[in-house]
Amino acid sequence: MAPSAISPIPDYKLSLQDLKSVDQSLGAAQNPCLHHGVAQSLSKQLIANALKARVDAVDPDTCDPGDDDAFFVADLGEVYRQHLRWKKNLARVKPHYAVKCNPDPRVIHLMKELGLGFDCASMNEIETVLNMGVDPSRIIYAQPCKTKAYVRYAARAGVKQMTFDNQDELYKVKQLSPDAELYLRIMTDDSASLCQLSNKFGASTNDTGDLLELARKLSLNVVGVAFHVGSGASDPSAFIKAVQDARFVFDQAEALGFTMHTLDVGGGFTGDASFEAMAAVLSSALDDYFPPSIRVIGEPGRYYVATAFTIACSIIGRRTVNDATLGTTSYMLYMNDGVYGNFSCIPFDHQKPTPRVLKCASDPVNTFLYDSHVSGYDTPGMTEYSIWGPTCDGIDKIPDTHCFQQVINVGDWLYFEDMGAYTKCSATPFNGFPAAHDTVYVCSEPGAAALLDL
Ligand SMILES: Cc1ncc(COP(=O)(O)O)c(C=O)c1O
Repeated sequence: MAPSAISPIPDYKLSLQDLKSVDQSLGAAQNPCLHHGVAQSLSKQLIANALKARVDAVDPDTCDPGDDDAFFVADLGEVYRQHLRWKKNLARVKPHYAVKCNPDPRVIHLMKELGLGFDCASMNEIETVLNMGVDPSRIIYAQPCKTKAYVRYAARAGVKQMTFDNQDELYKVKQLSPDAELYLRIMTDDSASLCQLSNKFGASTNDTGDLLELARKLSLNVVGVAFHVGSGASDPSAFIKAVQDARFVFDQAEALGFTMHTLDVGGGFTGDASFEAMAAVLSSALDDYFPPSIRVIGEPGRYYVATAFTIACSIIGRRTVNDATLGTTSYMLYMNDGVYGNFSCIPFDHQKPTPRVLKCASDPVNTFLYDSHVSGYDTPGMTEYSIWGPTCDGIDKIPDTHCFQQVINVGDWLYFEDMGAYTKCSATPFNGFPAAHDTVYVCSEPGAAALLDL
């Protein structure tokens, strides 16, 4: 195929206006701020109901194995709200959800209905998305060093967009998927991110010229540039430098005769309050360096799902620690999930999940404590706990010690918010504990519920 050939890429459906009108037709408030506050409190209420129903149904003294396993509650309305926020702040960037972050089938289904594309890193991820009825043109195989058999699979399945960053990969693509639409992944300064990726992937701008020349010699079709500023990025200037470098590579490629039509700005976005500022910097860099005719896509993962998932874990064991010198009593609590399970986000994603008391049978006022705004978490004088996972390994521990007003015992429950990103996707069955946990779905947004026929 001639290097300049461009396959038409459909503009995925649903604009911000469409999404608002879905909401309005379902009676959601038109004022986005008001709507946001109302939706947040509805979200809390729905999550509370789901948590309570499940934990109240479990009696640790009589239940069957598995009944008291850790479980998630996911608010799909939160994913939907994040999408509205994306459309508002990064209207130019077409999101391709990074499936690796949380391949939850309902999340993927909602994203499909919202018109997102998908970033897949393996055959399994591609298959998962295709099996949901997503058109292969909505998928980018964003893995610069791909398994040969997976490239063959992708080519057969019609997935043409893929990334590369080295010569060997170009020969591989030439052999197995010569019609691919290639994105040259470039290195970034990701030093201010939580999880750095440029130590592993991305060509230096010193090498991009040679790579493009080889691609030209092999008659491959390079259509764009991709970068990733590191997962959990915190420095907006990393986006500016990356966009400038991408422009440099676009110019190199165009000088060699390639018709470059797409820039892929990767992931790295967090869902916290820094998103708006990050998006503003990126948007203005895009407008400075790339004309509107250039299509821009992104590969957000964490941004979409982190806040949507809450996990509840039960206490399976407790060890009392008496300090005779200080005259204090503290406790070691053993939960039924840990770093080999959904708390894999601690070693792999550098997270520090915050435990909160969900159910405490001995609490004199209220046994169900979700979102009770108990004052004094971590206040001196309260009961101190260290919290451990269920496996035999000493590293299986929630970081730091924590203080609660309550005296927690076996059979009580803790919960952790913001557990949607890089948690269950990297859970293992180590020691025979389950790697897969139930998810109870709620939906605080009528627009999302309508799209999912809930
Ligand atoms: C190529 C690629 N794209 C996208 C992502 C998603 O990143 P994030 O969750 O930070 O948005 C990752 C994460 O590792 C990645 O490697």
